[in-house]
Amino acid sequence: MRFENQVALVTGAASGIGRALVQQLVAEGAAVVAVDIVEEALHQVVTDLQAQGGKVTGCVANISADPDVERMLGTATSTYGRLDVLCNNAGIMDLMTPAADVPLALWERVLGVNLTGPFLACRRAIPIMLEQGGGRIVNTASEAGLRGGTAGTPYTVSKHGVIGLTRSIAFHYGERGIRCNAVCPGGVATAIGAGSGIPHEAGLAKVMAVVPLQEVSYPPPELLQPRQAHSAHRKCGSRYATQS
Ligand SMILES: NC(=O)c1ccc[n+]([C@@H]2O[C@H](COP(=O)([O-])OP(=O)(O)OC[C@H]3O[C@@H](n4cnc5c(N)ncnc54)[C@H](O)[C@@H]3O)[C@@H](O)[C@H]2O)c1
Repeated sequence: MRFENQVALVTGAASGIGRALVQQLVAEGAAVVAVDIVEEALHQVVTDLQAQGGKVTGCVANISADPDVERMLGTATSTYGRLDVLCNNAGIMDLMTPAADVPLALWERVLGVNLTGPFLACRRAIPIMLEQGGGRIVNTASEAGLRGGTAGTPYTVSKHGVIGLTRSIAFHYGERGIRCNAVCPGGVATAIGAGSGIPHEAGLAKVMAVVPLQEVSYPPPELLQPRQAHSAHRKCGSRYATQS
């Protein structure tokens, strides 16, 4: 198994892509610290996997708060003695709001979770990995980190920032055994848009106008059950792809 005897920490573990990441890492032998801000949903993911014999520890934390980040990394080292893989995956959307209409609070919230969060985690994980002789960091960026036409301004800026963070860490620490990469998914039907507020009407319309298939589709509910999340991702990804 690829991750046998390895320890991984995944943020945003209670839902969507993060939940699928935890399941895959556990299935491939890793011991995982699963982190999320939503306690009840995280508890469900952790107890389900533990019931199947997986090595998983839950940690409720807000990744944009440094004391929480210190505690979540401490959970990995105190529970499992090391940290081999850090997956900075937790993120939130921005209601598709274009720059001139972005309230400062929305800007700070999105940048705080999507960019400051991964930075804080990397800042604390790197010394642990250097002391061990290496490690891997995988940041969930987005297609919005590569283009301007897939989301509002805060989300787009935050994901461009995540790519910069990834490149900088790879540059500065690659020779010392730390590999840092980003993944840039297209649209995946997860909970990310749910409950965050009413989208900016004009911003949403402009983004949707460049979606080639001109529709948003969701997989049947059973595909969004935990174990199928990965395949749901594959089935839905291309439908949201944009060109700008
Ligand atoms: N779904 C998509 O279309 C898509 C596309 C590209 C990139 N992404 C990125 O993938 C990542 C995962 O998103 P998802 O689609 O699975 O969304 P999701 O909403 O299903 O899952 C995100 C998880 O992050 C958690 N979270 C949010 N804020 C947090 C915080 N401050 N501290 C700790 N946990 C927090 C949420 O509680 C949730 O469980 C995000 O970084 C997102 O930007 C998603």
